[in-house]
Amino acid sequence: QQLKLSLEQIEKGGFEHFMLKEIFEQPKSIHDTLRGRLLVEEGIIKMAGIWDNLERLNQAQKITIIACGTSWHAGLIGEYLIEEFARIPVEVEYASEFRYRNPIISEKDIVIAISQSGETADTMAAIKMAKEKGAFVYGICNVVDSSISRVTDAGSYTHAGPEIGVASTKAFTAQLTVLSLIALKLGKHNGHLSNQEFMRLISELDTIPQKVQEVLDTTHEITKEIAKNFVDAQNFLYLGRGYNFPAALEGALKLKEISYIHAEGYPAAEMKHGPIALIDENMPIVIIAPKQGHYDKIVSNVQEIKARKGKVIAVVNKGDTQVASVADYVIEFPETSECFSPIIASVPLQLLSYYIAVYRGANVDQPRNLAKSVTVE
Ligand code: AGP
Repeated sequence: QQLKLSLEQIEKGGFEHFMLKEIFEQPKSIHDTLRGRLLVEEGIIKMAGIWDNLERLNQAQKITIIACGTSWHAGLIGEYLIEEFARIPVEVEYASEFRYRNPIISEKDIVIAISQSGETADTMAAIKMAKEKGAFVYGICNVVDSSISRVTDAGSYTHAGPEIGVASTKAFTAQLTVLSLIALKLGKHNGHLSNQEFMRLISELDTIPQKVQEVLDTTHEITKEIAKNFVDAQNFLYLGRGYNFPAALEGALKLKEISYIHAEGYPAAEMKHGPIALIDENMPIVIIAPKQGHYDKIVSNVQEIKARKGKVIAVVNKGDTQVASVADYVIEFPETSECFSPIIASVPLQLLSYYIAVYRGANVDQPRNLAKSVTVE
């Protein structure tokens, strides 16, 4: 028992939990996912799985992304990326829904399956069904040689390294990194993305590991402090727009999983269609509000929340004054292109959930009722 404990401590590398270690590993895991693929000086993205199937992918009638949980949230951001840069229609489905209905899928379709473990039963079954219908299936997995990586026609690994904490963190940001690479590569080769824009975006993508390091360094203590105020919260809302709407869903899922606080993610503009009724002085609202995108709209969302006395935790770009001046708590992150902002903005949300859960005495690495890979239906 003693030996087991000390081995585990070694594996945690001085961190109290695997989850915290994995949050802090993200500059490296994103860098590892980019390494050998993003060649900025040469102006290229090298990905064998995409290159070998370029024509098929770029001529796809539609791309359907299938996944579960956090991987499904990455898929939603993948939809925004691929539609924006490659202009190919994308749908995102829960694998568990896709497999039990009769989706319209043909040989002209591409299915992208995203899975950290590569063993999720619903995703596996959905892939089999898509293949039976003649679709070409592309996998994005983290675990090398996993069942999903073996059954798919081609794919790209995320190089996040082993993820032990049940709540996915570094696998999520690695998935976003791979999806960014795919979208930019497809867009470059099908002509929807100009060379100049491609160069600007890949140079920016190259800075992401360093910006994630910066956000870890500057927000770790702040999120830890902010978390103390929400130990007894019973509900949370997470809001974001555009690329950061799925980041809001993911922020809410992280909090639910490990702290057992009820949390919901919403596109900020949907607030007026229902959730606004929930807002009072007992409702904490995390709002992701980078400068790009629809910043002015977010500013008015924050004002609406404050008028109803909601407690606002604003995740904003460094130097922001407008949202920051009305928010109750402010977490700053470095500016980047809107399409990459979820990679950076997700990090303080992971820290916030982590510390709220720790202060509540929850078992963050092994939350109740959850398994790391869901191999049952
Ligand atoms: C993530 O924090 C969750 N534990 C869970 O939603 C997970 O993302 C889901 O079960 C999918 O797993 P996969 O990526 O291994 O397929």
